[in-house]
Amino acid sequence: MLVIRNIRTMRNCVRKVKGEKKIIGFIPTMGALHQGHLSLINRARRDCESVVISIFVNPTQFGPREDFKKYPRNFAADKRICQKAKVDFLFIPRVKEIYPPDYCSYVRVKGLEDKLCGTFRQGCFQGVATIVSKLFNIVQPDIAYFGQKDFQQVVIIKRMVRDLNIPVKIKVLPIVREKDGLAMSSRNKYLNKQQRKEASILFQSLQLAKEMLKKGERSSVKVIAQIKKMIKKIPSAKIDYVSIVNPESLEDVRLMSEKILVALAVWIGKARLIDNMIINETGI
Ligand code: PAJ
Repeated sequence: MLVIRNIRTMRNCVRKVKGEKKIIGFIPTMGALHQGHLSLINRARRDCESVVISIFVNPTQFGPREDFKKYPRNFAADKRICQKAKVDFLFIPRVKEIYPPDYCSYVRVKGLEDKLCGTFRQGCFQGVATIVSKLFNIVQPDIAYFGQKDFQQVVIIKRMVRDLNIPVKIKVLPIVREKDGLAMSSRNKYLNKQQRKEASILFQSLQLAKEMLKKGERSSVKVIAQIKKMIKKIPSAKIDYVSIVNPESLEDVRLMSEKILVALAVWIGKARLIDNMIINETGI
């Protein structure tokens, strides 16, 4: 595995790999790697002849009062995980090279960026779309791998790729969960023991939604109310949103008569956790 710290070297390697007509699979990450990330790497390893992973804690997707400084960074452990998973290139660019002092170009995916998490984390998805398009330009992957965990991110990136004609295929993989259902996340490290136990309420509440649909409930207002009631039983929980939306447009759905996305963001102590589930109208 080659560890690459600058754009020029990454580009040279990409040129060489493309010259050998190898398919490039790419996994963009912010590090603190866990089984969720690993599921993407393993899939890329199976699909592609050359696997590139990037680790870059992207400052432009964090708000001024958010956890950019505190975000977990553990390069030694991440490197070991990548080596073990047989990654070919580990790209860890420096902030200064990605965003030079006079940097001023940003990508916006209007209409999708200000829904769900975008309401609470203004500018976040502009930061995501910008860094992902920059990384796509540098790595030029054939296939890029993303997790359903960040559902809105996937919708935005797919739209950006379509709208800007970026020649990459986006593959989305299921949410990897802990035994109790908590979606794996680098931010789970912020939870203390008690909060960690309580955090499984997110998954339980999504399952409750599923059960309600199965039993014939069609009113999203009623399902959302039940989810909120369940989460509010946890004293350390603070709900940002619980929404039921169309999985493509991310527009609110009132009568659940087709496939819907239940998405939520909840603070447990200092950790802002997100989770989601796609459910069809019969609750499956
Ligand atoms: P990060 O949070 O590190 O996640 C990197 C990728 O791993 C994303 O596609 C995310 O959806 C996926 N992932 C995280 N937890 C997962 C889980 N439990 N199961 C399955 N997949 C999971 O998402 C980002 O970084 C950044 O926004 C990035 C795209 C790198 C841009 O900076």
